[in-house]
Amino acid sequence: MRRISIEAPAKINLGLRITGLRPDGFHSLESIFSTVSLTDEITVSLDPRTTGISLICTGIPSPADESNLAWRAAQAFMDKTGIKNRSGISITLHKKIPSPGGLGGGSSDAAAVLLALRKLTGIRINLTPLGETLGSDVPFFLLPGGTALVTGRGEILKPAVVPRFHCILVHSGENIPTPAAFKLWDEHPGDLTEACPISNYTALKFGVWHEGKPFPVRLDNDFLTLLRSRYPGLVRTAEELSRLTVNWGLSGSGPAFYALFRSEAEAKEAEGHLSGKFPWVFRCQSR
Ligand code: C5P
Repeated sequence: MRRISIEAPAKINLGLRITGLRPDGFHSLESIFSTVSLTDEITVSLDPRTTGISLICTGIPSPADESNLAWRAAQAFMDKTGIKNRSGISITLHKKIPSPGGLGGGSSDAAAVLLALRKLTGIRINLTPLGETLGSDVPFFLLPGGTALVTGRGEILKPAVVPRFHCILVHSGENIPTPAAFKLWDEHPGDLTEACPISNYTALKFGVWHEGKPFPVRLDNDFLTLLRSRYPGLVRTAEELSRLTVNWGLSGSGPAFYALFRSEAEAKEAEGHLSGKFPWVFRCQSR
């Protein structure tokens, strides 16, 4: 039996703008996605003595069935390549990334399973189209490098470089379904036009950082503007983080936030302030 163990990293969004509703019902975005050192741990095995898919989940509870994106990635790979006639796939998933969190955990797991299966089988296949069918964020996690300017539905990726950072992730305690968050934009698209006139993408495009500091000018996230009046936990978290730094933001459609620091000592101090006030606080760094 051949097996591969792989880490599936979380991402944060260094700014996020929703730029339109597409004919396919998805939304176009502009965001910088950047991976951090919080990871799920995945082992994928090919067993020629079995058929089908098996999934064992440990860590943060997650479904060990076909509703799990790791399972669906294995299924998609099987269907596409025909390996189901030759081998079964066993996956163990140790979950450390909260979901839903806006941290891309499920998408990262799916990408990790696809990458592991390609390596195990040696089948030369472009995984991006397969990833797109599984979720808008999956193509990003298939890309090596860990940071990209992301546009389109999430599939147009331009590799980018951000300076190293230390980071605190904070779960605000709210439960925000992503489709509902996007739907709010459909109801209030005009509300955002003044909210974010200059984005960090401008800074990235011209290769400059605000006042020479190693963080983007703006970490604004349109979702926060849309969601804050409905989810008081978001407002409370934003206020707590504002007391510690200006370099904070909501990740994806939440409910997790991040705060960035230049040194580990600053991050540790912030962790001390935040621990115990929120259901989950995690200190990590850029990957
Ligand atoms: O692609 P993914 O499965 O992550 O998307 C979950 C839901 O979020 C979609 O069904 C859609 O309602 C919304 N979405 C969107 N535009 C995107 C990504 C997601 O409207 N770019």
